Amino acid sequence: MIQALDHIGIAVHSLDEAVVFYRNALGLTASPVEEIASQEVRTVFFNLQGVRIELLEPTSPDSPIARFLEKNGPGIHHLALRTDNITQQLDQASSAGCRLIDPTPFIGAGEKSVAFLHPKSCFGVLLELCQELKKEGHL
Ligand code: CO
Repeated sequence: MIQALDHIGIAVHSLDEAVVFYRNALGLTASPVEEIASQEVRTVFFNLQGVRIELLEPTSPDSPIARFLEKNGPGIHHLALRTDNITQQLDQASSAGCRLIDPTPFIGAGEKSVAFLHPKSCFGVLLELCQELKKEGHL
């Protein structure tokens, strides 16, 4: 089941410059930078009472974010919806005819299980599904 709008992803050329802007102009504090090697991005999050803003900077010219920036310039890249069952959510979307970018979820920012739905199937919006992974008991 979809539970909440988890975050809004924004593509930027420079995380450093954007973080300074968010701090100076808006007074927001960024989370530590996290690199997601599989997606070739570096990200930070700003937590706004539950909904978060994610900034994404490409780490290689082949990164999907680099291609997005080339085509569109900086701006809103995706909306992420939190679910309690990403596998079921992908099955449901697929059954409804939605094109899946990631038929199998991968581990994204914040160690969450994530998968993207194709914007062509989602009325022009790139949608991310994300699920908090169950924390293992303390060892
Ligand atoms: Co995201």
